Amino acid sequence: MCGIVGYIGNKTAADVILNGLNRLEYRGYDSSGIATIENKSIKISRAVGKIKNLYSAVQTEKFSGTVGVGHIRWATHGKPSEENAHPHTDCSGKIVIVHNGIIENYRQLKKELISSGHKFRSETDTEVIVHLIEKYYSGDILSAVKTAVKYLKGAYALGVISQDNPDVLIGVRYDAPLVVGVGEKEFFIASDIPALLPYTKKFIYLSDGDIVELKKDSCKIFDISDNITERKINTIEWDSLMAEKSGYKHFMLKEIMEQPQTIEDTFRGRLAVEDINEFFGEININPQTIRDINKISIVACGTSYHAGLIGKFLFESLSGISCETDIGSEFRYRDLIIDDKTLIIAISQSGETADTIAPLREAKKHGAKTLSICNVMGSTITRESSSTFYTRCGPEIGVASTKAFTGQLTALHLLALYFGIVRGKITKDLASKFIDSLIQIPHEISEILKKENEIKSIAKKFFKKSHFLYLGRGLNFPIALEGALKLKEISYIHAEGYASGEMKHGPIALIDENMPVVCIATIGRVYEKILSNIEEVKAREGIVIAVAT
Ligand code: BG6
Repeated sequence: MCGIVGYIGNKTAADVILNGLNRLEYRGYDSSGIATIENKSIKISRAVGKIKNLYSAVQTEKFSGTVGVGHIRWATHGKPSEENAHPHTDCSGKIVIVHNGIIENYRQLKKELISSGHKFRSETDTEVIVHLIEKYYSGDILSAVKTAVKYLKGAYALGVISQDNPDVLIGVRYDAPLVVGVGEKEFFIASDIPALLPYTKKFIYLSDGDIVELKKDSCKIFDISDNITERKINTIEWDSLMAEKSGYKHFMLKEIMEQPQTIEDTFRGRLAVEDINEFFGEININPQTIRDINKISIVACGTSYHAGLIGKFLFESLSGISCETDIGSEFRYRDLIIDDKTLIIAISQSGETADTIAPLREAKKHGAKTLSICNVMGSTITRESSSTFYTRCGPEIGVASTKAFTGQLTALHLLALYFGIVRGKITKDLASKFIDSLIQIPHEISEILKKENEIKSIAKKFFKKSHFLYLGRGLNFPIALEGALKLKEISYIHAEGYASGEMKHGPIALIDENMPVVCIATIGRVYEKILSNIEEVKAREGIVIAVAT
């Protein structure tokens, strides 16, 4: 989740852009950059780390142009570094872009562009876009952008400027957010409204496939079929904080609602089961290593640990590899039986959890292979693992993990699937069927999120209860643990997650008419079993809240 700002008008573009980038800080960033057109030439500055680093660079170099684009980067392809920070330029240095999104087919495009002589300077997926624009450029930047985007697969919001077309700012939106801010003889583009609130309250929401050509005093929008189109100008009444939360009351709620998108982003471009080598290339593991290992050991903390417990099921059933999952702070103090045939998978949203870093280091001392599943590129865990599979959830501001958890589950499903294919445990046909189901998940989650009113009415009924039990079996046992953790963390209500089969060995004594029991009863191998557990709860007059298919 990167952030884009662009400006064309009479103000100093750098001031507007830096201010806008600063206001997009909540989207997370590891580097930032800006480009403007100054006396008919392009001027660029990029910096790693805090935006104040970019501020200092811009002040020293004195940017005074009135057209420009800027970017805060949350790395997904290529580590956080000055070379990988946006804006990116074509070979001539005359065309400049900033991009938010993921280009799924960038490897293929990059190969083709390199073989036709283009020189790449970064490890990003973004750079292919600017070289493609260069390829189709013959004096008209708008038409080059229109042609170039036809070759892109994936999600992209773009800001484009060019030295030879100094009076034009181009914006493109496809599956990634981009709004146009409307001012007096000036226009803006941004990934999100808060970036522009000090300058305008008037916004145009672009539709997928729209390309907008902005000049100081005109705004032309071309739809996906290249027809000139009108889009409504909306007036925003939100204050900045409301706008950062996209109108939701809390960041956590916003992040829960983002899950259909973040899951899709995590599997985007990673579903071609035919292309095994491509997949292992991305995570930087030799498929032979996966064939050779005889054990997987997952280490993680908190919510990431719960994802790891589900990972155990997946690696055993899809990949046929024996797997254990440990809490990081426990693992490091065990007498470890691991060697170079063990693969350690560290799962972490932040990549900075000390209790997960320590076991990773310990395992390396025993010669184990290491892989991390992480949401933050360049974080400690990713630097200390031999390879990393990134979730692409964007920054998680809410303290209680939500979208990171489902991103981790998506990553674990993909890894287990590819490990299974490479080890001959599942056929590519079966894997394709599995992927067909995976693709449905964002839609299914959207449907569940629409049940907000039903969920609220259950919450209203039970919020005064002091204790809750959560029960699940199989894959749903870790989900029960995670549900109980969320209730404790957010509602301050005591809650326990249990494997439902374990209930009769103790916790059943707690059940009476005051105990709400959340039973996860989705259709599957152990469905009948959980139904009989529900009967046991009812026999004790417990209150059953079923999460059912
Ligand atoms: C805890 C957080 O401190 O760290 C949890 O409260 C989180 O929500 C856990 O799951 C692990 O964090 P990470 O970043 O390693 O996934």
